[in-house]
Amino acid sequence: MKLRSPSTILVTGGSGFIGANFIRYLLGETGQQEHGFAGRVINLDALTYAGNPENLRDIAESAGDRYRFVHGDITDAALLEKLFSEEAIDTVVHFAAESHVDRSIHGPQAFVNTNVMGTFALLEAARKAWIDANGTVRDGVLFHHVSTDEVFGSLGATGYFTETTPYDPRSPYSASKASSDHLVRAYHHTYGLPITLTNCSNNYGPYQFPEKLIPVMILNIKDGKPLPVYGDGKNIRDWLYVEDHNRAVWTVMQGGDTGESYNIGGDNEWENITLVETLCDIVAEELDRDPAETRKLITFVKDRPGHDRRYAIDCSRLKNELGWSQTVDFAQGLRKTVKWYLEHMEWVDGVRTGAYREWVEKNYTAR
Ligand code: NAD
Ligand code: DAU
Repeated sequence: MKLRSPSTILVTGGSGFIGANFIRYLLGETGQQEHGFAGRVINLDALTYAGNPENLRDIAESAGDRYRFVHGDITDAALLEKLFSEEAIDTVVHFAAESHVDRSIHGPQAFVNTNVMGTFALLEAARKAWIDANGTVRDGVLFHHVSTDEVFGSLGATGYFTETTPYDPRSPYSASKASSDHLVRAYHHTYGLPITLTNCSNNYGPYQFPEKLIPVMILNIKDGKPLPVYGDGKNIRDWLYVEDHNRAVWTVMQGGDTGESYNIGGDNEWENITLVETLCDIVAEELDRDPAETRKLITFVKDRPGHDRRYAIDCSRLKNELGWSQTVDFAQGLRKTVKWYLEHMEWVDGVRTGAYREWVEKNYTAR
């Protein structure tokens, strides 16, 4: 199989959780030994509440010319055109998004703007830069779109999402991501834009904004605050360590078939309540507290509207065709993540805005 070898990569949303870990993987020392990427990365990020330049400060200092940060919005067509003319971009990896389901219930507009209109603007910019008036596509270019398993909807007790599962998004977030997936595929079929697409399950690891389940729980356990478990706590998610997700994205960027999509998952399903109990035990151990006391913080609260019951990914295509597999065991990954948060309280204090948590606390009061 002939692998693609990107030289100038435009990463959108590179200052957020997964994007920052991806840039760390590309430009940091550990990943380097694995992939040997020697090119340049341009990180375009609007620095919303979820984006934080601090996530990449050391990389920005050490990578020299190999890293450029551009503060800007993916919906800004003029900025995108300028970027494509200034830089020899041959690859786009599109992470930028509004990514939190609860926020999409509270304020869906930003999700349509960024996830739908932003993806459209980016596709247009890539099409104009890479495809000439005769429809000839520049050699070696690729638009990789990072998406989610939530586009497939909600599973019952059995079954898995495969690449051919029909789309059935049920929140404004997943509907906006589904729209962006459709646009990306449409640009491939209509204009011949070379694309690949990945749909991944729930990520966890360092630099995740403390509004998502795992960091919320770690920090509330540490602070002795109630642990808000939505509904009956029996919703199921399939968890994957963020580095494994990013290795999968890189694998697909290099070897994935153009026009195709690949599911990425952890083969690691957990009921929320069991996961929260496990976190209570790990944090208690790390802080030398009584696990029975930390578990007493668990508080069942009003359910999330339209709460998807179960996600589970069949990622056999990625494994069989491209040789990817998960490397981080969940117990080790959770322990590593707990330690990271406990050792990075300055980072936590820096990213917390306060305003959003007030809304959550008002809307998800204890039952
Ligand atoms: P995040 O919310 O942590 O980060 C999003 C980043 O995008 C931030 O840096 C933010 O500043 C930036 N951004 C938002 N709007 C922008 C705009 N208009 N222009 C430029 N930058 C903008 O998100 P994440 O969890 O890192 O997710 C990254 C991608 O991966 C998203 O596309 C998400 O749908 C997808 N995904 C996430 C998960 C998960 O578990 N977190 C799982 C599967 C797929
Ligand atoms: O599946 C991939 C998706 O995973 C990504 O596309 C999204 O960007 C990402 O946010 C995540 O979505 P979820 O809604 O699954 O993640 P979240 O961390 O918000 O919630 C995980 C589960 O935990 C879900 O069933 C809701 C529940 N939950 C969440 C929070 C924040 C609680 O019970 N209490 C909470 O305080």
